[in-house]
Amino acid sequence: MKIIIAENYEDGCKKGAQMFLDLLARKPDALLGLATGDTPKGLYRELIAAAGDGRADFSTARTVNLDEYFGLDGKHDQSYRYFMEQNLFNHINLKPENITIACGVAPKSEEEARMRAFFDANPIDLQLLGIGRNGHIGFNEPEARLRSSFHYTALTEDTIEANSRMFKRSEDVPRAAYTMGVGDIMKAKSVLLLAFGPSKTEAVKKMCDDFVDPWCPATVLKMHPDATLIIDRELADAAGVK
Ligand code: F6R
Repeated sequence: MKIIIAENYEDGCKKGAQMFLDLLARKPDALLGLATGDTPKGLYRELIAAAGDGRADFSTARTVNLDEYFGLDGKHDQSYRYFMEQNLFNHINLKPENITIACGVAPKSEEEARMRAFFDANPIDLQLLGIGRNGHIGFNEPEARLRSSFHYTALTEDTIEANSRMFKRSEDVPRAAYTMGVGDIMKAKSVLLLAFGPSKTEAVKKMCDDFVDPWCPATVLKMHPDATLIIDRELADAAGVK
């Protein structure tokens, strides 16, 4: 795994965005694996700026998202589809038919089958990831056994608590989600994980030791042939990463 220490959040987002811009220049119909959360917002701002000044063209690009809350319709303002529309899709020339996101209100077995068929037929060129404080990637939560394929999953108390900052009432925070499995992530040709700030220290320490540990799912990326981790200087210092 390649580790890049950026000066700060903006610098890390610029460096991450450049990987997407280079890919699109090389392969205009690339399949981009996308993530939500606070972490990638700056990278999406960079992509929007690049689309605005002609450095990027998304007209033939395709996207797929890592995950979606179970029980939320795509129009709900906390759904991941809505997040993507607000933070990226509405500002670039990506075609709606080239966007794939799980449907949070679709029945479990149907949605698992639909998304698994999508991943079988469509290899991801570059998958963007954030990381949970507990080391989750997508919503692959720490567990003795990790799931390989796209699946429905219950969320841990730690993740529900971390996500509650986005909801007015704690009882509204979804308790379950659809997510790509770790096998789907590992099948992406390249993977980019962004982590910024001290709250990710323990997870990043584990990403940088020598163990692959299902209790910190992001550690599987050590086995990926083309994985990049971008962290900021503050996090690198806190995690003891040189
Ligand atoms: C989001 C996702 C999650 C987040 C993670 C970090 O699509 O899959 O794994 O990447 O929870 O979230 P932030 O970036 O808000 O700290």
